[in-house]
Amino acid sequence: MALEFSGKTVFITGVALGQGRAVALAFAEQGANIAGLDLGEKISYPAYNRASKDNLNKLAVDLEQIGAKSALFPGDVRLAEDVKKAVDGAIAAFGTIDVLFNNAGIAAYGLSHELTEQQWDAVLDINLKGAFLTGKYVIPHMIKQKKGVIINNSSVGGLRGMNRLSHYAASKWGMIGLTKSWAIELAPYGIRSISIHPTGVNTPFNDGLAELEGMSPQEIAERSASNLLPVPWIEAQDVADSVLFLASEKAKYVTGSQYVLDAGLMTR
Ligand SMILES: NC(=O)c1ccc[n+]([C@@H]2O[C@H](COP(=O)([O-])OP(=O)(O)OC[C@H]3O[C@@H](n4cnc5c(N)ncnc54)[C@H](O)[C@@H]3O)[C@@H](O)[C@H]2O)c1
Repeated sequence: MALEFSGKTVFITGVALGQGRAVALAFAEQGANIAGLDLGEKISYPAYNRASKDNLNKLAVDLEQIGAKSALFPGDVRLAEDVKKAVDGAIAAFGTIDVLFNNAGIAAYGLSHELTEQQWDAVLDINLKGAFLTGKYVIPHMIKQKKGVIINNSSVGGLRGMNRLSHYAASKWGMIGLTKSWAIELAPYGIRSISIHPTGVNTPFNDGLAELEGMSPQEIAERSASNLLPVPWIEAQDVADSVLFLASEKAKYVTGSQYVLDAGLMTR
């Protein structure tokens, strides 16, 4: 039986760890080629970041083990030349990009009036400008193909205010504007654009925020999430299940909208 994404190519930013990695493995299990980029080395902000080429290499090996082809590149989504190189590399390897998962993102705490301009810029540039830049290089290929799906990883932080995370919330609300504008601009080409809004997810990101606060991951998840369903967080696999559904034909009329994966948080 043919796998659901056989022969399709999925491009993922922040592919090496957490949700990006889980989504890559889930698409690969369904026959997709995986392309994408992630930082090849540690950046200074946020302090929890432990990016390294080893994470990318490990993913490439794991993908190969399940029989998937991959084209993974070290790079920073803030840098147009890095993004272009990865997109060009994906097209050279596979010919098309069928699904784009704009996922790279960071967070760190600080009252808005105490954030430095550099901290504000880092969060906005990685979380929002990175998605714009990746779209800028991927979308022309999707337009040529007259098909494609873009899924932007926002957050519940894109649906409400967040204490000591104003830069994060602003970047995640910005994802909605970008998602909806892409949906309008790209519908004539059969391209869909959706944002997803997970509650706290059990990833190195959550561990990193806990480390910054001197708390356990469980405590940080409960403090920031307070889900309606009795779980402190959801797993990266839960996000992957939703992303695969949204990228599939079953979701062919879902575009411009916000897919809320919040264990009931926003209903509180
Ligand atoms: N974990 C959560 O609780 C949670 C909840 C809702 C939404 N999100 C969002 O989901 C996305 C993925 O988060 P995660 O939990 O997997 O985080 P993570 O920290 O576990 O993984 C993020 C990946 O992005 C990469 N990355 C960071 N900056 C980058 C840059 N400038 N260029 C390229 N790659 C970069 C990191 O190296 C890492 O591999 C983020 O956008 C995050 O804001 C996270």
